[in-house]
Amino acid sequence: MKAAAKALKSPQPIPADLPIKLGVDLGTAFTVLVVTDEAGTPLAAAHTFADVVRDGVVWDFAGAQQVVRNLRLQLEEATGRELTRGAVTIPPGVNAADHRAHRYVIEGAGIDCTAVIDETTAANAVLGIRNGAVVDIGGGTTGVAILRDGEVIANIDEPTGGTHLSLVIAGAFGIPFEEAEKRKVKPRLQRELLPVVRPTLEKVATIVRDAVRDHDVDHITMVGGTAAFFGAADIVADVTGRRTTLAPHPMLVTPVGVASWAENLTR
Ligand SMILES: Nc1ncnc2c1ncn2[C@@H]1O[C@H](COP(=O)(O)OP(=O)(O)OP(=O)(O)O)[C@@H](O)[C@H]1O
Ligand SMILES: [Mg+2]
Repeated sequence: MKAAAKALKSPQPIPADLPIKLGVDLGTAFTVLVVTDEAGTPLAAAHTFADVVRDGVVWDFAGAQQVVRNLRLQLEEATGRELTRGAVTIPPGVNAADHRAHRYVIEGAGIDCTAVIDETTAANAVLGIRNGAVVDIGGGTTGVAILRDGEVIANIDEPTGGTHLSLVIAGAFGIPFEEAEKRKVKPRLQRELLPVVRPTLEKVATIVRDAVRDHDVDHITMVGGTAAFFGAADIVADVTGRRTTLAPHPMLVTPVGVASWAENLTR
C-alpha cells in the first residue's frame, strides 16, 4: 500500500510491454482510479473529490462520467498507456439498476467494464482476511462485511461517514463545509477536533457494533478515508469490544483491490 500512496503522488510512465490492470472506485467523496501490474502492485493512481454518488447511488450521471473520463485521460497522459478496460466497485447491497449505473458510468468514460465488484470484496483482495470483519468508513456511509473462511457472509452499509464529520466541524466553528473538510484531513488538527466529532464517530462505531453483534468476530480491520481520523480505531474498539486495527493507507485499499478483477491491458 506504500506503493499505492507513492503512485498517487506522482504517477510514472509504465513500460509499453507490461500487462496492467485498471480499477475504478466510485465513492461518495472521492473517485479513484488505480493502475496495477498483474500481481496487484500499484503503479499509478489518480483521484478527485466529486459529489456524483450519494449513499451508493449515482445521482449525477453526466458528472460522474466526466470525472472518470478526466481521471482516465490524466492517468493515460502520466503513464503513456491506454486505459480502456477495467473493473468498477459498487457498494454492498445495491440493486440491479444502480449496479448497472456504475457500469454505464465507466463505459461512458471510455472504459470497457469487465467486472463489477462490491467494495468489501475488492478491499479484501488486498487485506486477505479469512475470518473477521472489514469496516469501510467512507465519505457517505459506513460498510461492514463479515468474513468467514474468506467469504463475505453478511454485509451492511449505513449512512454516516466523513461528510457527517465535516458537517459537524462546519457547524461547531461556523465555517463553510469546504473549509471544514480541509481542516479535518490535517493530521495535526485532528487531536483537537476529536471532541467535536467524537459523537459522530461513536455513531459509526454503533453501526459496527450492531453489525458484528451476532457474529463470531475477534478482529476488525478498518479501511476508507475516514478510518484514518485520529482515534477512530480506538473508538470502534471501545464501543464494539473487539480488537480493531487500521489498514495502512486505508483510502487506497478498495481502489487497489478492485483492479485485481480487471482484465489485463496489453499494448
Ligand atoms: N486523513 C484523513 N483523515 C480523516 N478523514 C479523511 C482523511 N482522508 C480522507 N478523509 C475523508 O474520507 C472520506 C473519503 O473516503 P473514501 O474515499 O474512502 O470514501 P468514498 O469511497 O468516497 O465514500 P463512500 O465509500 O461512502 O461512498 C472523505 O470524507 C474525506 O474527507
Ligand atoms: Mg468507498
